[in-house]
Order: sequence, then structure tokens, then C-alpha cells
Amino acid sequence: MKEQKTIVLASNNPGKRQEIESLLAEEGIRIRPQGDFQVPEIEETGKTFVENAILKARQAAAYSGLPAIADDSGLEVDALKGAPGIFSARFAGVGASDEENLRKLLAALKGLPSEARTARFQCVMVYLRHAADPTPVICQGTWEGAILRAPRGQNGFGYDPVFFVPSERCSAAELDPETKNRLSHRGQALRKLIAYLREQK
Ligand code: IMP
Repeated sequence: MKEQKTIVLASNNPGKRQEIESLLAEEGIRIRPQGDFQVPEIEETGKTFVENAILKARQAAAYSGLPAIADDSGLEVDALKGAPGIFSARFAGVGASDEENLRKLLAALKGLPSEARTARFQCVMVYLRHAADPTPVICQGTWEGAILRAPRGQNGFGYDPVFFVPSERCSAAELDPETKNRLSHRGQALRKLIAYLREQK
């Protein structure tokens, strides 16, 4: 019998971890959180989602000795010229809460009409076979939507309560986890990565 694949997940964000783990579990892939290997928080010094995802995955692979998956993701708002982008987690400052980031976003868009509130989530998911892997597998997903005027819903994390999902006519935080994974930037990127991992079996 073939050994079950074990991969370290380079994320300390519980919301992301839940979404990623639920899709990988369906594939019989065992995920170990990077917390199991005392992986320190890394400074995201890259200028792109790809660079930051690789930095995170490389560090997790180095500490754990396992293949690693990392995602770097964020929200691009057209009226803010693509901000907060790679700074989404720290939009209201380093260590800011989801609530603080979301409030800052709503304030920045105050008074803007619906047609000017377009936005999208971006996700880059990276797989490194080992810390020195020179050919990382890079998968991307994009989820188009718009920014609401006030938060709605209790599910998800981050900017979900203010992200309007046109196909469902509700916020991302009003979606059940399965529907969010079916539609989201992260779900799209991860399904591409899973297709690659399946080929390697
Ligand atoms: P990262 O951990 O540096 O990739 O930061 C990603 C940040 O982007 C999160 O902290 C959220 O603020 C935001 N973000 C990414 N994906 C989502 C999502 O699916 N829902 C809501 N916010 C998200």
C-alpha cells in the first residue's frame, strides 16, 4: 500500500487553514500545521503574492523537513488602485484585526456608488517538494465581486462580511463553507494544485 502523503501547511491563519484542510482531506492528504514544527512567523518582504507564498512555503519546508504548501492572498479594490493587495492582512497596521481592516476599507470607500465598488480576491498557492526546490508549483485563483456598504454574515474570515458575491447575491460571510470553497480564489487555486498532486501519485 502506498504511504499517505504528509504536507506541512505554512499558515497560522485559522480561517485559511480550515478551508485548505477540508479540500485536501478529501484527497487523503495529511496536513501538519507549521505550528507542530515551531516555524516562526516570517516577514512577508515580497512585492507579489507569488514571492510571499514561496517565502512562507520555503521556511515551513526547512523547519519541518516535509513538502510544504503556502498560500498568499488578498483583496484588490479597483477604486483603491488594487490596494490593499499584498498588504490585506495589515491594511490598518501590523497586527490589525480583521475588524479593523474591514472598517478602514469601508471608510476608504465611503460614499462610492455600487458600480465603483468592484473588487476581487486573489490567491496564489505554492507547493515546494523540499526547502531548496528550484521549481515550485504555483497555482492561482481569482474571485470577482464588489465591496458592500456594511458587513453582512458570520462565516469565513477577513473581508468576507463586506465582499459581495454576485452569483449568490450575498456576502462571502453568508455562504456555507462548501459553497465558499467551490467559488473562492483559494478553492480555485487549491483545486489546480490538487490536480497536479494527483498526477504525481
Ligand atoms: P496573508 O495571510 O498574508 O496571505 O493575508 C491574507 C489576507 O487577505 C487575510 O488576512 C485577509 O485579510 C485577506 N483574505 C485573503 N483571503 C480571504 C478570504 O477568503 N476572505 C476574506 N479575506 C481574505
